[in-house]
Amino acid sequence: MTKIEICDTTLRDGEQTPGVHFGISQKLDIALRLESLGVDVIEAGFPAASDGDFEAVRRVAGAVKNSVVCGLARCTRGDIDACYAALAHAAHPRIHIFIATSDIHLEHKLHMTREEALARIAETTAYAASLFREVQFSAEDATRTDRDFLAEAVSCAIENGASIINIPDTVGYTTPEEFFAILSRLRHVIPAFDAGKVMLGVHCHNDLGLATANNLSAISAGATHVEGTINGLGERAGNAPLEELVMALSVRHDAFGDGVQTNIRTKEITATSRLIASLSGVPVSPNKAIVGANAFTHASGIHQHGVMQNRQTYEIMAPEDIGLTANTIQLGKLSGRHAFAERVQQMGYTFGEEAIDATFARFKEVADKKAVITDDDIRAILSEYLDSLEGRYRLATFQIQSGNHIKAMALVTLADNLTLTTDEDGKITPVQITEAAPGEGPVDASFNAIDRIAGAESVELTGYEIRAITEGTDALGEAIVKIQAGTSLFTGRGVSTDIIKASIKAYLNAINKWDRARGTSSRPATEL
Ligand code: KIV
Ligand code: ZN
Repeated sequence: MTKIEICDTTLRDGEQTPGVHFGISQKLDIALRLESLGVDVIEAGFPAASDGDFEAVRRVAGAVKNSVVCGLARCTRGDIDACYAALAHAAHPRIHIFIATSDIHLEHKLHMTREEALARIAETTAYAASLFREVQFSAEDATRTDRDFLAEAVSCAIENGASIINIPDTVGYTTPEEFFAILSRLRHVIPAFDAGKVMLGVHCHNDLGLATANNLSAISAGATHVEGTINGLGERAGNAPLEELVMALSVRHDAFGDGVQTNIRTKEITATSRLIASLSGVPVSPNKAIVGANAFTHASGIHQHGVMQNRQTYEIMAPEDIGLTANTIQLGKLSGRHAFAERVQQMGYTFGEEAIDATFARFKEVADKKAVITDDDIRAILSEYLDSLEGRYRLATFQIQSGNHIKAMALVTLADNLTLTTDEDGKITPVQITEAAPGEGPVDASFNAIDRIAGAESVELTGYEIRAITEGTDALGEAIVKIQAGTSLFTGRGVSTDIIKASIKAYLNAINKWDRARGTSSRPATEL
């Protein structure tokens, strides 16, 4: 059996999904979830990109004990130093350095010759190897790189201390056959791979919908390190979805030579996918392989009949294999803290006592209004709690005046966590700011009042959706708001049994992300 090393880059490449911004508490929760899932390597971020990224990698490095924690760096000493500092307390640190090697990137993006790129690879790989025991090198846009030059760049990185070589299909351009040939050729011309000294890895994007197929083809060609993200999050069409890769390797391990195995606990897949969908605000489409709501649903009579006789007629894996089990105990207003905490843990969240106290109180509030609380309701409460830890502004109160003969008017009060005041008893509290604003309706008026408080008048609302999480008039409503500031997109989510309140919370969540991004230095331009 060949062991395949699984690297999850949800926190790095996954966060490059338009509109997705994870806060530090969310990143910590995701990292611990990934560790429970059994991923070998967690790519936690790009420390040189911003102070926020640096801090998130540092915190993840301190919390994760079993998985390798990896930081991304361009081939510059500054980026490598930032990674070194961020990973100082990691139990198992790894640096991932990358530089583009295709002519199109060298000429138009980096303005470098091939010789200059090789010199840069040699210098910075050696520098990284002087600080880290595990150095991973990626030749960005490898699949559009001249084959001889790719081999030269990879050899240069190996000679200077890289022990993991990653071949990214950066723009999702290659095909399974072509990728097989690229990797086989590298193995043929670079003996260090077959000598077991260097690991061959791949990182595939999904622009042509081929990311999973390309990953699998790479494994057939001898790759033993494979990267991807949960639910396939990532730039443009995303990265290879890890759940697809892992289940393909599990269900069809017989299709790969003497067999392959991973350390992934597949029963944790559903909880992980749901956590990521909830924290990213990017829902999983119902027909998505493995984790879509329809993946194990049989609709036609013939299929249902077959499955009732023998599940294997139409199921190649069991829902239980990915941890998709119905909960038999329903939570409601009589449920206690203990049952609630246990359900939270089963759902894949690693909440401490304080977080359980806060969310249990909110659970009770909702349970007072709603007879039965589903897992989706609980997930919404937990995600909202994680969001609330990050934001500068918190909703204190709101009042709406609206009707069919008057213009809607909203009066909103927010607590500003960055501006503190001391009350009469000497207690330090956030300053409360109130603004009133008119609008086309109650939601528009509330958003306008928030804009006035946060100085966000230039921010554009590009998307607004509201849906009931569960059925019934007492359902929790979830609002998803998308805003745009310049070229940056931010998504916010809010939950309440009152849809106006859910909308205000969602807008505030997006505004808090925008506010955080404008307060920290942004991702560096790709030039070295
Ligand atoms: O897609 C890509 O090339 C990357 C590299 C940084 C590995 O994400
Ligand atoms: Zn990528």
